[in-house]
Amino acid sequence: MTIWNANLYDQKHDFVSKFGGSLVDLLAPKKNERILDVGCGTGDLAYEIAALGANVQGIDASHDMIIAAQQKYPDITFHTMDATLLDLTPQFDAVFSNAALHWMKQPDEVIQNIYNALKQGGRFVAEMGGHSNIASIVWALQKSMEELKLSYIEDYFPWYFPTLEEYQAKLEGAGFTVEIIKLYERPTPLQGEDGLRNWLMMFSNKLLQHLSEIEKEQIYKKCEELLKPEFYQNHQWVVDYCRLRFVAIKK
Ligand code: BEZ
Repeated sequence: MTIWNANLYDQKHDFVSKFGGSLVDLLAPKKNERILDVGCGTGDLAYEIAALGANVQGIDASHDMIIAAQQKYPDITFHTMDATLLDLTPQFDAVFSNAALHWMKQPDEVIQNIYNALKQGGRFVAEMGGHSNIASIVWALQKSMEELKLSYIEDYFPWYFPTLEEYQAKLEGAGFTVEIIKLYERPTPLQGEDGLRNWLMMFSNKLLQHLSEIEKEQIYKKCEELLKPEFYQNHQWVVDYCRLRFVAIKK
């Protein structure tokens, strides 16, 4: 399980919800529509959607994220809930998800549960890390562990970054019509000189769970060394995000 630090997430990783902004345009929420935000984090995009007049509920598997979301936006309903275990009758006009589905390594269950939660004709609008997402960071983590003679445990790899074809087939297999789907590179700036280190501290916990704090420190340092020449320019880290974005309709 990934333990999230909701404070660090809001202070250093607000790019996650900022970049998600245009995904809200793609969702185009209408007044009084019922919308479920899957993997809502600290609730910023749920709030944006609610501000456009929709009736939003947010779920996230992290209880800390949900507590933070509820404190920030007390008028929105948030629940701690793992999308893999979601069991809802058709009631939502749309399901929205930004930067969350790649943390869910049982995509078939998640897609089926979202399908079940949607009314007929309802839309599933989402963006997630796609194939090759953060390939350089994954490479640097593996290389650092190898060089430091620390074991890399495949089962601890926390992400699912599918190809376009693979995810489209899963959506269609569940009964969706895929209206839009694209995979594209979106180089992503990380805040400050410690941007990469902060990113690793926030997001690589699960992969490094078997290591001591000293070993993790060695890995952060080695990753910085390995990635700096290509990904730190003009005092700015910019890393290689690849996004998979889609709109799918429940037939
Ligand atoms: C992403 O948004 O692509 C992402 C964020 C954290 C870890 C891995 C991927």
